[in-house]
Amino acid sequence: RFSNALKSIARNQEIKRSVQNSKELYPLLKNGINRFVAGQTRKEGIERVSHLYSKGYQVSLEFIGENTISESECRLAKSEFIEIIKELGANQIRGTVCLDLSHIGMMISSSLAYSHLEEVAIAAQENDINLILGMEESDKTNKILSIYKDISKIHTNVGITLQVHLHRSLSDLKELLRLPGKIRLVKGAYQEPAEISIPRSEELNERYIEFTSMCIENEHPISIATHDEHLLMDLKARGLLTSLNTEVEMLDGVCPSLLKTLKEEGIQTKVYVTYGTEWYLYLVHRIAEYPQNIYTFITDIIEQ
Ligand code: FDA
Repeated sequence: RFSNALKSIARNQEIKRSVQNSKELYPLLKNGINRFVAGQTRKEGIERVSHLYSKGYQVSLEFIGENTISESECRLAKSEFIEIIKELGANQIRGTVCLDLSHIGMMISSSLAYSHLEEVAIAAQENDINLILGMEESDKTNKILSIYKDISKIHTNVGITLQVHLHRSLSDLKELLRLPGKIRLVKGAYQEPAEISIPRSEELNERYIEFTSMCIENEHPISIATHDEHLLMDLKARGLLTSLNTEVEMLDGVCPSLLKTLKEEGIQTKVYVTYGTEWYLYLVHRIAEYPQNIYTFITDIIEQ
């Protein structure tokens, strides 16, 4: 209940605007934020992924943003993604760039999001970079899947995130398995009505295992994106972490020692790094899904 309340408060536009626009707040909270977000600039994002890549992790990088309603800001976001791709290419980092379609135009129209996505996908192909689309609230799922299905017929380097907690996801998975792009399995970060979703539970974990098995039986590229140690150990015991085209992916700053252990065992591991000035909602989600993070956050700030 605390998590859901926190996520709802965080979505209040006035609170969000005053926190993000405050010039004084960021320097004050910087150390706490930096555990989860590389920084506000592209340079900080690229430095963080370069460091992790040199340590033997695969990397994902996202310029944070969502629900962008101004066309010029959508264009700027699209250009920023292209710049990230070029810089990763120039640094010989064969990484993944991640984006939310509502950040690059979907709030205005699907065709705008598609045309921006196509430009980003072309740049990615030229630089040997993969893209993965984030999955957003359930009222956007149809639109996101439809854009993904269109783009993936042309650009096989584009993948998609699937939220295991939605009831509809089993039939979505069956369709996605027919397309070439990587499927990133997540439990789901958004608060959804009980009629359409499964809460955190053993039932949800079993479903996660079932989805993973389906991908692996179909030899489909998959990212196992969870920090749930119990679930990961179960997947490992079933031999589902070492299949070809399989990686375990975690958010930067969340359970780093667990990911390091998996890497040392020879499992392909990936760290998801974020940067940007829209850090606030991202940070609140990390605290909401694991409220103990509030103590770490405060300690980081005090020790700054
Ligand atoms: P779960 O929430 O079940 O918690 C299990 C355990 O994991 C906890 O007890 C704790 O030990 C640990 N843990 C989980 N979260 C933690 C945290 N923040 N800090 C410390 N420990 C934590 N969602 C979405 O809806 N759309 C998307 O596009 C994405 N994209 C995405 C990419 C990647 C790479 C990851 C890892 C996750 C996402 N997510 C996402 C988020 C995802 O849906 C989910 O909300 C979080 O991963 C938390 O769920 P878990 O399965 O990790 O663990």
